Amino acid sequence: MDTLRFITCGSVDDGKSTLIGRLLFESKAIFDDQLAALVKDSAQYGTQGNQMDLALLVDGLQAEREQGITIDVAYRFFTTDERRFVVADTPGHEQYTRNMATGASTASLAVILIDARKGVLVQTRRHSRIVAMMGIKHVVMAVNKMDLVGFDEATLNAMAAEYRSFASALGFASLQAIPLSGLTGDNVLAPSTRMPWYSGPTLLQYLNRVDTRTTQHEGPFRMPVQWVNRPNLDFRGFCGRVATGTLQPGNAVRVLPSGVQTRIKTVLLGFNKVAVATAGDAVTVTLVDEVDASRGDVLVAADAPPEVADQFEAKLLWMSEHALAPGRQYLMKQACKEVTATVMEIKYRVDVNSGAHLAAKVLGLNEIAVVNLSTSAPLVFEPYAINQTLGGFILIDKLSFETVGAGMIEFALRRANNIHWQALELNKAMRAAQMHQTPRCIWFTGLSGSGKSTIANLLDKRLYAEGRHTYVLDGDNVRHGLNRNLGFTEADRVENIRRVAEVARLMMDAGLVVLVSFISPFAAERAMARSLFAPGEFIEVFVDTPLEECERRDAKGLYSKARKGDLKNFTGFDSPYEPPQDAEVHLLAAHHSPAECVEHVLRALG
Ligand code: ADX
Repeated sequence: MDTLRFITCGSVDDGKSTLIGRLLFESKAIFDDQLAALVKDSAQYGTQGNQMDLALLVDGLQAEREQGITIDVAYRFFTTDERRFVVADTPGHEQYTRNMATGASTASLAVILIDARKGVLVQTRRHSRIVAMMGIKHVVMAVNKMDLVGFDEATLNAMAAEYRSFASALGFASLQAIPLSGLTGDNVLAPSTRMPWYSGPTLLQYLNRVDTRTTQHEGPFRMPVQWVNRPNLDFRGFCGRVATGTLQPGNAVRVLPSGVQTRIKTVLLGFNKVAVATAGDAVTVTLVDEVDASRGDVLVAADAPPEVADQFEAKLLWMSEHALAPGRQYLMKQACKEVTATVMEIKYRVDVNSGAHLAAKVLGLNEIAVVNLSTSAPLVFEPYAINQTLGGFILIDKLSFETVGAGMIEFALRRANNIHWQALELNKAMRAAQMHQTPRCIWFTGLSGSGKSTIANLLDKRLYAEGRHTYVLDGDNVRHGLNRNLGFTEADRVENIRRVAEVARLMMDAGLVVLVSFISPFAAERAMARSLFAPGEFIEVFVDTPLEECERRDAKGLYSKARKGDLKNFTGFDSPYEPPQDAEVHLLAAHHSPAECVEHVLRALG
């Protein structure tokens, strides 16, 4: 018996709970004790007089669920003689977009509820766009509450026509309109006698027989390697789930991204050797040759390999309260691969209600955008529209490990493939040797007025006197030129630090000792800066002066402005400072003179 996973989209007002309740009730998915409780609750809280209020079945769980803070989706199960069903039930309001996307990500069909009295609403369009974005190809347009419009045929026809013309751009493979009433049960399980003009299937009849199988089985073979099983020297098995296509012993395959070619020796399903495995099977594969493949690599049909790239255009749904900042690094998981990813540019935000393209610098909770994305290593991918496994990804915050975004790769950016790293004949080591020094990046971080620049300046003079070749990059100065187009929003500060970190890297590559003096308030960007350098090259210096002391000094008068409310986004006031946890040098600059602080840094330099 196969399983159909579907999602229901609509709000409580559309009668969604009642409809799901009826499906569960009439398919006998509820247990006797629940039934007894339902009869009792209906009498007590129900809205249906002496009738059982089926919505209570679902709403009881809903109230419980909505107290949760995580992205949860309620899954319900029921079975008919033909099929097993898993229903993902998520609230329909805009603030639950991420929940709906999560539910839709595992479903192959969506039941979109429309209130027959209200027709196609803004929210109907929103729900449809979200399910289309998540790759759902089959839609049931359930026009509910037909009893309240006198079971009128013209009402259904008008709504179906309107919906079809709207949905034609969304690429659904099938679309079935069904007039029904969750409350009275018309056309839910049994055909309605009150809508003789309708000759189509009832909702359950349709769900029982709709064919939502995709072309997964037909596509070329792809299997992301999840784990390499090497119990002894004689056996090396590559374990994973077949994403698309089929595989058989003898098939020619390639390991990507390396491109090494070999053939399949054996295919194991559990402990059994099989002659063929297909999409969805979890298998262990052995190969004819000793080839290198590790977790995250992808085994693919040798004659039809997918693309490999490290820059993409992708759709991104933001799932975190903390806005996306372009330029910030996130962990990205795609298939079995983990890399670091940066959104280079938000091309536009998509208004989830109207579909309009809007300009955006940041992306907030539940917002959707088309972005350019760059990854730290090449990914084996296919567009999400044709392969959800190789095209789907999530972004994870590097510090909190919260899942912050869900994305869908659309295509690789060609320009990235056409830019090659130009190998130069003189390198950092040769330049450094000529200057008789070890290049370093000394990165000062701390509040405005903490003393960063004073200390950096003094250190610069000391190093210069010793004959070192140095340069100071100071926030105030760089913001006059290279970064003059940046302000102090979170997004701008992220970009500010990204640029200066890249410049520092170039300067270090030129053999210099670079002193960077920027507030650099965010741990994520300091970690990003550090990642540009080899171990030992990057020395983080935390100039730890308490806010009160910085405010007392107030050399630039900015604290008094901020105190009066005349300066927005001021660090330590309405913009956070995240103190470093693992700086190489920690200066308690309020208790030591700048000269003492310099000695401290020099000791760390060795
Ligand atoms: S950072 O946060 O992006 O690293 P950066 O070091 O470049 O900041 O610039 C900080 C300097 O800009 C401060 O020393 C201060 O003189 C000035 N400044 C002006 N407005 C602000 C603000 N809102 N917050 C912090 N610094 C500000």
